[in-house]
Amino acid sequence: MPRRTGRRSRSARPSTLRSHERTNLALWEQSAAGYESRNAATLSRGTAMGWGMWHRPERELQVLGVTRGKDILELGCGAARWSVELARGGARMVALDFSSARLEQARRQMVASGVDFPLIEASAEAVPLPARSFDIVFCDWGAVTFTDPYRTVPEVARLLRPGGLFAFSNSSPFRSLCQNRQTDRMSHRLLYDYFGLHRIEYPDEVNFQLPYGAWIRLFRDQGLVVEDLLEFPPLRTARTTYLTKTAAEWARHWPMEVIWRVRKPSETRRRGRRATAG
Ligand SMILES: C[S@@+](CC[C@H](N)C(=O)[O-])C[C@H]1O[C@@H](n2cnc3c(N)ncnc32)[C@H](O)[C@@H]1O
Repeated sequence: MPRRTGRRSRSARPSTLRSHERTNLALWEQSAAGYESRNAATLSRGTAMGWGMWHRPERELQVLGVTRGKDILELGCGAARWSVELARGGARMVALDFSSARLEQARRQMVASGVDFPLIEASAEAVPLPARSFDIVFCDWGAVTFTDPYRTVPEVARLLRPGGLFAFSNSSPFRSLCQNRQTDRMSHRLLYDYFGLHRIEYPDEVNFQLPYGAWIRLFRDQGLVVEDLLEFPPLRTARTTYLTKTAAEWARHWPMEVIWRVRKPSETRRRGRRATAG
C-alpha cells in the first residue's frame, strides 16, 4: 500500500464527484471550524476513541477488538482523533476524508500528538487504494452517513482482507424516520415512509439510510457477515453537544444511533460455507 507519510494525497476533485458528494463537500468545507469548536468537548471527553453522540468509550464496547499491528482505514476521519489514538496504540493507520478543511484539522492533531500516517483526500465511494489492504475499516458517524451505501459497502468489501472487520456508527432508521428534515426536531411519530428509505435530503446536506433488512441484504451480497448491531439508550449521566435536551430525551425511548459490526469471512470459513451449501 502506498504510505504517503505526513502528506495529503488527493483524488476527490469536485468535477469527479456525484451531486450528493458535491453538496456534502460544500457543507463540510464551510462548517469544519464550527463543527470542531461546537463538539471538541464531546469528541475528546476522557478518550479520543468514543462512539456516537454520547462518545461511549471503545474500551467499554470493544467494537474494534485488537488493533495493535493491524492495518486500519478510517473512512471520513474529520480531525482524525480516533486515528491518532489508534496509531499511538500501535495500529498502522490510514485516514481518509474528502474535505481539505477537515484534513487540515487532522494534520494539526497528528503534529500535536507526534504521530504520522497517510491522510487521503478522497471520497469513500471511490477509495484510491488497492484491494485487500486493510484488517479493519471503520468510522464513527463518518463517511457512511453521507455516502450511498450501494457504492460505499462494495468499496469496503474490496478494501478488506479476508477475516477483516467493518464497523461504523450511524443514525438509526428510527431517527431517520422521526427527525423532521426541515427543522431537525425529533417527533414521537413516524414522519416518513420506511419502505424505499435510501437518500435523505436536508436543506444543506444529503444523508443515506436503509431499512434494516436492506442493510443486511447489501452486506450479504458483498460477502459480508453481520456480527452485531448495537443499539442502546444514553447513560443517565451522559452529556452531548450534538443534541438539544428534547432530542436527548427522545433517545432514552428509541435508538438514535446504531453501531454495525460486519465481517468479511476468512478464506477457510468461506470455503467451508460453500462446501456446506453445495
Ligand atoms: C460527522 S463527521 C465525523 C468525523 C469524526 N468521527 C468526527 O466526529 O469528527 C463526518 C465526516 O465525514 C466526512 N465525509 C462526508 N462525506 C464523505 C465522503 N463522501 N468521503 C469521505 N469523507 C466524507 C466529512 O468531511 C466529515 O469529516
